[in-house]
Amino acid sequence: MTAHTPIKALDIAAIRSEFPILQREINGKPLVYLDNAASAQKPEAVIEALSNVYRHSYANVHRGLHTLANEATEAFEGARQKIADFLGAQNAAQIVLTRGATEAINLVANSFGQTLESGDEIILSQMEHHSNIIPWQLLAQRTGAVIRWCPVTQTGELDYDALMGLMSARTRLVAMVHMSNVLGTTNDASRIVKMARDNGAAVLLDGSQSAVHMPVNVTELGCDFFVFTGHKLYGPSGAGALYASGDWLDRLPPWQGGGEMIADVHEDHSTWADVPHKFEAGTPAIADVIGLGAAIDWVRRFDRIAVMEHERALLDRATQGVSAMPGIQLIGTAQDKGAILSFAMEGAHAHDLAQLLDKYGVAVRAGHHCAQPLMRRFGVDSTVRASFAIYNTADEVDVFLEALHKAKSFLI
Ligand code: ALA
Repeated sequence: MTAHTPIKALDIAAIRSEFPILQREINGKPLVYLDNAASAQKPEAVIEALSNVYRHSYANVHRGLHTLANEATEAFEGARQKIADFLGAQNAAQIVLTRGATEAINLVANSFGQTLESGDEIILSQMEHHSNIIPWQLLAQRTGAVIRWCPVTQTGELDYDALMGLMSARTRLVAMVHMSNVLGTTNDASRIVKMARDNGAAVLLDGSQSAVHMPVNVTELGCDFFVFTGHKLYGPSGAGALYASGDWLDRLPPWQGGGEMIADVHEDHSTWADVPHKFEAGTPAIADVIGLGAAIDWVRRFDRIAVMEHERALLDRATQGVSAMPGIQLIGTAQDKGAILSFAMEGAHAHDLAQLLDKYGVAVRAGHHCAQPLMRRFGVDSTVRASFAIYNTADEVDVFLEALHKAKSFLI
């Protein structure tokens, strides 16, 4: 096996040993971390990369002529190339480094958004995270653009017929989540792209979850924009990226002004740096971007399909166990879904359940998951969400189910 052959037979015990935090106990019980859709834990390789930058190679990037500046710039631009390769982009200049997916969407809303006119339409879905809603609402307020909403079916899938019906000559952008952070549903990106193309509209995909749980190739997907964040991908918080296809970045105006994004500054006008730097004003999150590069190297050690199958097996086991409990409403039962399980329990508030699960060492998220329109669609104000990662085990699923039984009998 060469260093470039991803590992198919996952040794979960060995993988777990690379995550120091998984050794922790919570309330006297071994930590069972099932809040991965919110943020994943970090392997030694990422922690070490961060530490190494600050201990050995830290300086500002792009500006210096000294050794440390050159080393930091090389590692930083190396991370951009790793992101491009990971996403299947054609070249690294298509990758803008951002603080995360939220900033990347705001970038598109504030840059592409400058090309919109009153009455132009943006299509969103009912399963969007607030980060793919609010930037468009702010844009609509500024420009008079109109937001159209694609409904979600009872199983938590996009209503593709309704989506087709929403397309019109005024549609400029379809901005959709690739994999829902609540339902786990994987949307058919190619189908969405085809519909949008037929109507002359662009497509933005929010890949915050899909980039973690499934293989992604943005060139094959054919989307115009793809955003993701590093902290859910075992990387540091504060670093993510926007991919833009073709010459979008050349054609779009900058959004934030400052150092790094200019070519020349005069008293009466300025000119912009080449892409992607035109969109990167100010000193970036140097160490975090380099740490994200290390996270991508780490993730790419493992076969993506093998990881998906491992996580799917955990999801199936958890879904079976939870479904067997009376009074459970599963939220998100699509066929094609990632390792995210959301549910409501009759007579027990999600927050109370999460707090009780914590007593048994089990970390889940409870709340609206930054997706209030989706909560309303399913008639709930919150859900419990267990979300799985490469380092989770079947035994942990069983601990979660047992803790849920105990929490249930305490509350009901
Ligand atoms: N977007 C993150 C979540 O789904 C925070 O929990």
